[in-house]
Amino acid sequence: MNILVTGGTGYIGSHTVVALLDSGHDVTILDNLNNSHLGALESISQLAGRRPLFYLSDLCNLDNLNLIFDHGHFDAVIHFAGLKAVGESVSEPLKYYENNLIGTLNLLHAIKSHNVKKLIFSSSATVYGAQPAEKFTEEMPTGINISNPYGWTKSMIEQILKDFAAAENTKSPDNPVEISLLRYFNPIGNHPSGLLGENPNGQPNNLMPIIMQVARGERSELTVFGDDYDTPDGTCVRDYIHVVDLADGHLKALEYLKPGVNTYNLGSGQGTSVLELIHTFEEVSGKTLPYKIGNRRPGDLAGFYANPEKAKRELHWQTKLTVKDAMRDTLKFLELSTNKTANNNSAQPVEPNPPERQK
Ligand code: NAD
Ligand code: UFG
Repeated sequence: MNILVTGGTGYIGSHTVVALLDSGHDVTILDNLNNSHLGALESISQLAGRRPLFYLSDLCNLDNLNLIFDHGHFDAVIHFAGLKAVGESVSEPLKYYENNLIGTLNLLHAIKSHNVKKLIFSSSATVYGAQPAEKFTEEMPTGINISNPYGWTKSMIEQILKDFAAAENTKSPDNPVEISLLRYFNPIGNHPSGLLGENPNGQPNNLMPIIMQVARGERSELTVFGDDYDTPDGTCVRDYIHVVDLADGHLKALEYLKPGVNTYNLGSGQGTSVLELIHTFEEVSGKTLPYKIGNRRPGDLAGFYANPEKAKRELHWQTKLTVKDAMRDTLKFLELSTNKTANNNSAQPVEPNPPERQK
């Protein structure tokens, strides 16, 4: 298939692009490099042995987007592009609503006017909000006590996609829209080569990039946000999923797209605590990771993980890699990025408008 990947130079997008190219698909990436680097494109090309088309463009620019669709003749779109920093979304809500909602609405206009029928959307376990459940299944209600604007954008976009598909499929039942909403749990790790990884601009908020900063010596220590939760060791439990497994989930979602909107949890179904994650990193690296116990972070749930049975049943997908695998691969990425051979931060972007094609 010929696939447009929005946000394809980002962390999850770049791993998925490699998996798509390895499976024989043709890929065009659209990204504004807001939170990624052109170096990811080099790494993708090196790993896959061929270079995807790349457009430096913003989804909020509908004219550019339509030009890209005019040229592209896409069979499917995988939509990763969005802002994702939970804390920043609380202080800059308009930026998040504008980028994530307008970007998605523009994408739907382009999809509709270019008669593209297949779409996969990066949703998040955050749509389940703060519910008194630990193991989330897709049928559970969403949008309950979501604590931040980022989470609301995911919930709102899910609703927009359902309304869009319902309207389109009423008008053209013989040529239906097929959409999968993939609710990711906590992605970690990177490609085992160490050539691709999480390389965000600005200060990270998530646990794994912070562990990486401490390991690199860019931070003196990690603060564990609370050890008095009702969990086995008192620290929060999450469902960490290796990003290579997550990328594979997109391939399967593409293969098993069905008319209408279908939702899948992509997680391992296993919980790991903050302390367990730290200790696994220490075990794999043979190094001590300095940390202290701090206060709880407002809005954190004690524990949540996926019930991944639906993805197993319908997509024939399940995780294969472990948290230990993720730590081993993270170490490789750290080693290479410290040597400045991984994602190249100094890469200069090309001019954004009109869209530039890079071959
Ligand atoms: P990322 O920031 O590494 O990748 C997102 C990419 O989108 C970046 O390259 C960024 O430059 C690009 N982008 C953002 N806004 C854009 C716009 N308006 N136009 C063009 N490009 C734009 O993030 P990621 O971790 O790879 O996440 C990918 C998707 O998965 C996001 O939608 C995110 O919300 C979702 N998600 C991530 C996690 C996680 O923990 N990483 C969990 C659940 C869901
Ligand atoms: N944590 C620390 N110290 C830190 C950072 C995090 O102890 O410096 C803890 C958090 O308190 C939490 C756990 O590590 O208990 C994981 O935190 P993350 O911020 O990495 O992940 P969250 O589970 O809070 O949230 C992430 C995304 C959400 C998404 C959710 C599920 O940020 O957007 O995973 O996909 F919804």
